[in-house]
Amino acid sequence: MKKQFILIIIAFVFVCAVVIFQGNSIDNVTAARPSETSVRVENVSFQDDIQPILERRCIKCHGGEFPSEGLNVETYESLISGSQNGLVIIAGEANNSLLFQKIESGEMPKRGQHLTAEQIELIRQWINEGAQNN
Ligand code: HEC
Repeated sequence: MKKQFILIIIAFVFVCAVVIFQGNSIDNVTAARPSETSVRVENVSFQDDIQPILERRCIKCHGGEFPSEGLNVETYESLISGSQNGLVIIAGEANNSLLFQKIESGEMPKRGQHLTAEQIELIRQWINEGAQNN
């Protein structure tokens, strides 16, 4: 009788431990996500986040004396002034910005690998936050 009682208590403690442990790990997973995204959601910086991507992946065609399609991404001013066809960035409207459409569809960069999902997301956020020279 006593043995059974002890066994039941041990089983109960074990079940509680499993429930608490799982509860904790679920909390951790859901808690980690909002803080991860909030780091990326705010304050995308042109100089720190966007310019390095353009320099690495776009400038060899969209830079120098004869940039492709008249689009020069070397400076903020030349990027914002657009291509020979007009603006490629509409502040606050990534989905209506030709530049965003080209990278999201994978048309640009014209050669080499597509931008990563994270790079595309940074550019989307930067445009939607007003495409500032920050
Ligand atoms: C290998 C050369 C090359 C690279 C690298 C490249 N582009 Fe282009 N891009 C072109 C050419 C050429 C065009 C002209 C249209 C076409 O051929 O699709 C163009 C057109 C564009 C246009 C359309 C301009 C317009 O008004 O029609 C945008 C926007 C653009 N590129 C953005 C980018 C961005 C952003 C990157 C980097 C992520 C990039 N490109 C990398 C060659 C390149």
